[in-house]
Amino acid sequence: MKKSIRDVEVTGKKVLVRVDFNVPLDPKTNEIMDDSRIIASLPTIWYLIGRKAKIILCSHLGRPDGKVVESLRMTPIAERLSQLTSLPIYTVSDCIGPKVLKAVDKLKNGDILLLENLRFHAEEEENDPGFSSDLACLADVYVDDAFGTAHRAHASTYGVAKLLPAYAGLLLEKELRVLGDLLENAQHPFAALLGGAKVSDKIKLISNMLGKIDILLIGGGMAATFLKAHGYSVGLSAVEEDKVGLAKDLTEKAGAGKVELVLPPDIIVADAINDTAKYAIAPISMIPADKYIVDIGPQARELFTEKLKPCRTVFWNGPMGVYEIEQFGRGTRAMAELLGNLHATTVVGGGSTAEIVTEMRLGFKMTHVSTGGGASMSFMEGKTLPGVQALQDE
Ligand code: 3PG
Repeated sequence: MKKSIRDVEVTGKKVLVRVDFNVPLDPKTNEIMDDSRIIASLPTIWYLIGRKAKIILCSHLGRPDGKVVESLRMTPIAERLSQLTSLPIYTVSDCIGPKVLKAVDKLKNGDILLLENLRFHAEEEENDPGFSSDLACLADVYVDDAFGTAHRAHASTYGVAKLLPAYAGLLLEKELRVLGDLLENAQHPFAALLGGAKVSDKIKLISNMLGKIDILLIGGGMAATFLKAHGYSVGLSAVEEDKVGLAKDLTEKAGAGKVELVLPPDIIVADAINDTAKYAIAPISMIPADKYIVDIGPQARELFTEKLKPCRTVFWNGPMGVYEIEQFGRGTRAMAELLGNLHATTVVGGGSTAEIVTEMRLGFKMTHVSTGGGASMSFMEGKTLPGVQALQDE
C-alpha cells in the first residue's frame, strides 16, 4: 500500500499534483471531446481546496515530442476546469522556470495554478533529473493522481516523486483499489469480456487473468484468431497467423484451469469495412471466404448475455466489433447496456472501451470506468506501474 494524500498535512503547503488531463480534442475546433479525466480528478482537487493547500496542477496533453505545439496548450483544460469548479484557474505559459516560480509565489491558500503542457519539454519523457528537480522546487509535497500515465516513468510521474514527499491522490488510490480487488479479491463467478483488434495486445492480460476468472468471452477482431485456432475459416478477416498457436495454447490453458472459454456462435460479416458495405449474419461454421468479420451476431449477443447475467464480477476491455460504424456497433452497445444493468461489480478498462461507455452515458451505471488505457492494461497484466512504485510506502 502506498501513502495517500490523507496521510499528509497540506494546509498552506504548495502541493504539486500530477494529473492526467490528456483528453481528446476536436482536431478542427480544439474543443474537449470527453472531459471524464478532468471530472475524475475533482475529488483530489476539492480535497486540497478544502484543506487550503496551494494547488499546482501539471499534466501532459497529446504527444508534442518536446516542442511547443500551440494546439496542445492547456488553455481549453483550464477553461473546462474553471467551469466544473466555478473557480478561477490560474495558468502560466511554461511548467518550469522563473515565471512559474513567480506564479506559484502569488498563490494563496486554496488557489489553483495549472502549469503548461509538460511534454513541451523533451526532458519530461526522458525522466531527466534536472527537469525533475525544476518541478520539485515548485512545491513542498507531491501528489500523483495521474493513473492514466502511471505506466510511464517520466520526470513528472517518477523522477519528481523521488525528490519530494510523494503521496497517492484519491483517483490513483481508487483505481488501484478497484483494479487490485479484481486481481486479488473478486467475487465469483468472475468473467472477463475481451475484444479489440489484436490477440497480441491481450496475451499478457489473458495469461494473468486465467488463474482468476471463471469465464472468458471473446469478441472483436481478436475473435478471428481464436476462431481460426478452433479450425474455422474466417474469410478476409485479419488473423495474426503467428498467434494462432498461442490462441490454441490459451484455449488449452483455459480448459486445464477450468475457465470456460466462450467464442461467438455467429458473427456479422461484411463485404468491406465502411458504412455503405453490405452485411449479413453468418454462423461461424459458414463464414464466406470473401467477407470480413465486423461484429458479433445476435446469437452471440444472447449467449454472452446468458453467460454474463449470473456473474458477480465482470471486467470488460475491448469492443466487440467495428463499433465506430453504427451498424457494426450492435454487439458492443449490447454489451455496454447489459453491463450497465447487471447486479454485479462491473469494471471497464480505459481507452476505447471507456470512451464507448461514456459516449453511451452509461459510465454512472458501472462500478468503475478506468481512466487509464495503457495503465489499466499494464496493471491487469500484473506489471508494476513506475508512477505507483515511486510513491512512499505506508
Ligand atoms: C494515455 O492517454 O494513455 C495517457 O495519458 C498516456 O499517454 P501516452 O500514451 O501518450 O504516454
